[in-house]
Amino acid sequence: MRVFEVNGGKRLNGCLQVQGAKNSALPILAATLLIRDKSIIHNCPMLSDVDAAIKILVMLGCVCVRDEETVIVDASYAANHIVSKELMSEMRSSVVFLGAIVSRMGKAVISSPGGCELGPRPIDLHISSLKKMGVKIDEEDGYLKCSAPEGIKGTEISLAFPSVGATENIMITASTAKGTTVINNAAKEPEISDLADFLNASGARISGAGSNRIIIEGVPSLHSCEHRVIPDRIVAATYLSAAALTNGKVKLEQCGAANMISILRFFKEIGCHIKSNGSCIELTGSDSYKNTKKIITEVYPGFPTDAGPLVVPLFCRLSGKQQIKETIFKNRFRYVDQLNKFGCEISLKDNTATVNGINNFKCANANCTDLRGGAALVLAALAAEGVSTISDIYHIERGYCKLDRNLKLLGADIKESEI
Ligand code: EPZ
Repeated sequence: MRVFEVNGGKRLNGCLQVQGAKNSALPILAATLLIRDKSIIHNCPMLSDVDAAIKILVMLGCVCVRDEETVIVDASYAANHIVSKELMSEMRSSVVFLGAIVSRMGKAVISSPGGCELGPRPIDLHISSLKKMGVKIDEEDGYLKCSAPEGIKGTEISLAFPSVGATENIMITASTAKGTTVINNAAKEPEISDLADFLNASGARISGAGSNRIIIEGVPSLHSCEHRVIPDRIVAATYLSAAALTNGKVKLEQCGAANMISILRFFKEIGCHIKSNGSCIELTGSDSYKNTKKIITEVYPGFPTDAGPLVVPLFCRLSGKQQIKETIFKNRFRYVDQLNKFGCEISLKDNTATVNGINNFKCANANCTDLRGGAALVLAALAAEGVSTISDIYHIERGYCKLDRNLKLLGADIKESEI
């Protein structure tokens, strides 16, 4: 079994470039299906989730070539509309392909994406929105059988919840629909704006991305374009937390401070020193940190749910009790039992974690439960004197490119081993 072995207790110092955003690359790769030509995507992170998205594109008839962080998708002759259950289950967020397949092929058959480690992952908002746009969707035997006999029509959609994935699915579907689509209560995450930038570069007419009202004027077709994916703000938060936790000093290049305001505010409030300009952030840790008010995870621009697990280990270094309330996913705290193996004192009630400050972390052997929870275990291991092992690291590889190599560049003693 592959594990990370971490000999912790070392201060992290150095400079890193932040990888491209997984949650931007995935919907953009889905959107390339709309383009009967080549799309060139730069800064596309080398991750298992991205590999799964590329496999889906190939299954649909696209020709995909990857050269490091550049992926070229030629969807000129894509003609298949069915995605296998195996491939759909490889990546939970593959529902974002639904709108692209129906728009391009006029029909689609995908298996209903199941839940994931974070709990049930309903897609009712995706389905109701596409139905409003004229897509017929039958759910039978665990499959979604979709068709658009009269084509796809623009319409006005008011989302009951600003779902990131549903907003993306509607944007992609509406880009070549007949007429204009308006999304009210749209998600405002930076990854939504990045998808809009990609689609507009290929000839779409999208305005309002980043606000809660997005307008998409359907166009007959899209054309080839080249796009660079934005930096991954959650991965950036991971390395900043590692620096704060080990009282180190880390500079991140190619990362957008503007997309991390709520995260940087937290680090400043507890006593980290932050310097940032448009594309660089430098965090200097401290010997002691102070508590802040209770953190509540929210949709953007609030404190992101994905960053919660990345700051909980740091709470252990605060003097008193610190709380974080999760409002987005039911099972976000599955990692806490594993994190407590490192000597943390974290209790849970009503989707709120209460964390007591502790003097020292203990080295431990822990198992990843999910992507960001796995990153939290690595952070705790970095702070714990002695050798810890983290298993089930495939969870981490869904969202982090070469996490061990990058941490080693910052001075961590971490390696991947087979046990
Ligand atoms: C995206 O998931 C991200 N994934 C998630 O990152 C991220 O945590 C989440 O947005 C919130 O920011 C990708 O972009 C690939 P949502 P998504 O639709 O689109 C409920 C990671 O590993 N909901 O905004 O699935 C849902 O149950 C992942 O990087 C419905 O009820 O998030 C959840 O409670 C983890 N019905 C809430 O909305 C729907 O039809 C947020 O979901 C859709 C969602």
